[in-house]
Amino acid sequence: MNQSMRHGAVCVSLSLFVFLFLLSITPLTLAQSTLPSPLPLLLGTAWYPEQWPESRWDADLALMQQSRVHMVRLAEFAWSRLEPDEGNYDLDWLDRAITAAARHNIYTVIGTPTAAPPAWLTQKYPETLRMNENGRRDQHGNRQQFNFANPKYRELARKIAEQLAKRFGHNPYVLGWQIDNEYAVASFDPETKTQFQQWLKARYITLDNLNTRWTTAYWSESYTSWDQIPIQVGYGNPGLLLSWMRFVSDTWRSYQRNQLEVLRANSDPIKFITTNTMGWFDGYDHYTVEQDLDLAAWDDYVGEGHLDPVMNGFAHDLTRGFKQKNFWVIETQPGSVNWAGVNNVLDKGEVRAMAWHDVGHGADAVSYWQWRSALNGQEQYHGTLVGPDGVPVPLYAEVAQVGREFEKAGPALAGTSVKSEVALLHSYDSRWAINWQRHNKNFDPNTQLASYYAALRPIAQSIDVLPPTANLSSYKLVVAPGLNVLSDAAAKNLADYIRSGGHLVLGQRSALKDDDNGLQPDRQPGPLGALLGGRVEQYYALNKPVPIEGTWGTGESPFWAELLSAREKDTDVLLRYGMSNGWLDGQPAALTRKVGKGRITYIGAWLDPKTMETAVKWMAASSGVTTPLPNVPTGVEVSVRRGAHGPVFILVNLSKQPQTITLPSPMNDVLEGASKSSVELPIYGVAILAQPQ
Ligand code: GLA
Repeated sequence: MNQSMRHGAVCVSLSLFVFLFLLSITPLTLAQSTLPSPLPLLLGTAWYPEQWPESRWDADLALMQQSRVHMVRLAEFAWSRLEPDEGNYDLDWLDRAITAAARHNIYTVIGTPTAAPPAWLTQKYPETLRMNENGRRDQHGNRQQFNFANPKYRELARKIAEQLAKRFGHNPYVLGWQIDNEYAVASFDPETKTQFQQWLKARYITLDNLNTRWTTAYWSESYTSWDQIPIQVGYGNPGLLLSWMRFVSDTWRSYQRNQLEVLRANSDPIKFITTNTMGWFDGYDHYTVEQDLDLAAWDDYVGEGHLDPVMNGFAHDLTRGFKQKNFWVIETQPGSVNWAGVNNVLDKGEVRAMAWHDVGHGADAVSYWQWRSALNGQEQYHGTLVGPDGVPVPLYAEVAQVGREFEKAGPALAGTSVKSEVALLHSYDSRWAINWQRHNKNFDPNTQLASYYAALRPIAQSIDVLPPTANLSSYKLVVAPGLNVLSDAAAKNLADYIRSGGHLVLGQRSALKDDDNGLQPDRQPGPLGALLGGRVEQYYALNKPVPIEGTWGTGESPFWAELLSAREKDTDVLLRYGMSNGWLDGQPAALTRKVGKGRITYIGAWLDPKTMETAVKWMAASSGVTTPLPNVPTGVEVSVRRGAHGPVFILVNLSKQPQTITLPSPMNDVLEGASKSSVELPIYGVAILAQPQ
């Protein structure tokens, strides 16, 4: 070997060394320099790298990248991998998974793994297992078997959350945190019961006060010591039932705070903290729990059947109302679930339609659960985006289309949010209170809420669902279909709203109860009766519908009828009952009264869909509510998001036929990149329309 050859060899080995060195640092450096800012509309999926050999990760991530997945949620059930024995943490694999994802332009959301404690934990500390209502401890083998109030469980949950936060709180590829997974089941163990009794003491201060508010003179329920107070669920003293649910809500809040504190303390402030909720689920008061979070996120599953834009749309709007800003769909079904009666797959095109329906209601991310089924484990049959062989399933292409469209429409939707003229009031207290004493088994408070929502949504094209104490000053119309429990604070908020020029519409069973789930001493609508200049004389559970007639046409009220009386000269009767049980014959069924510039309306009948349609038109017209994009055929859902460049309309054809929509003026079809005066939508077709720039 001559000099120059030697020199060449040195050069080669040096470059090889440099190359190898670069290769060794490439993952982080490359990703750091190339990972663009998170997109305005994020497509995501739940990925469980701990279930697969590391050698497979890159192939999965490449397929995700191909479908424009830009977010994965990791680790929310991986406690036994993250802490195989007490205090022995192994976070390296998660670090590698996050970095591997980043190499594919994919950000991570880390779930704290506390919904699935490892076997060593519950074996060593059996008190951390929840106890059911019949006094039986749960066991290892499923999830959510932990006791949400147990101090030992909280200590261990905080430690693992802290480890994660310290390791990843400043990682540039981590967007945020999800605490636990779907808070759901309370524990009924003696220790939790003691905490409940202490909670009651803090709320009611004296037993005299509690006994009075719960009217415990009834059935000898009076308490002379706090530790006599039982836990009741389903059937019991209404004050006790409501208190238990409020305690459960506060306990979930403190359960969450326990982890939230260490996540916040160890993370960049830009990283959000959320948890995943379940739409209509009412196992705790979400307004209580969500107040500490940065972002609302929910798990949107159709289950059996097909997308119901009313029930699903309401759940979106309810979730958006938790933080009153855009939210995430952090889980949704790739085609089918595994837990419904019939786990049918959504139609071809329906998953895409649903993704845009989500965005229309204010979702900024849609994330599919899950990427790929574990080969074994409880959810083998659930819908996925790749099969057990790691090869895309037919739906993958449709989700990839959503990914491409999210990228394309992202700039038009960046910075936009939902702004509504109509608010619909929702309260967990009221839903619980009605469900505990339905009085007519067919009186479903959710159906009642949905009946107003279904009719109003096509007119307003966006509705905010809010708690009764929310700031209502920006709304032209506020509808409270079943505000059964009315606290003094909520009553004042509503009265102020009316007096300052708003239109409040109250539906059946409103204001029957006070804040302790006791009867209001005044007839409905209790403290709002003076403003209405009228009241409910009597309510009737119905075993057959009662005819109704008046300003909103003729129809019938099934399930329930409230006999109203106008007690002031300027209180107008809008609707009357026809001949039925004698009591109701010819009596008022709906009243309205102008109060200064405002108005209050009380509807004592359960309106059939046709009458409801006329009634909501009246509500909108008398409140100045406008339809942003008029003359859209029934079955085409229109949603509006607004930003600096005007409204962006999201149209989804959920009807059973193709539809043509004529636009009032030409608009830019964002997905097609063309100016349009009318839009043709096939079944499940989607159009995103923005103002011409
Ligand atoms: C829930 C859970 C997920 C998964 C899905 C299945 O939403 O959060 O872990 O079990 O249901 O539909």
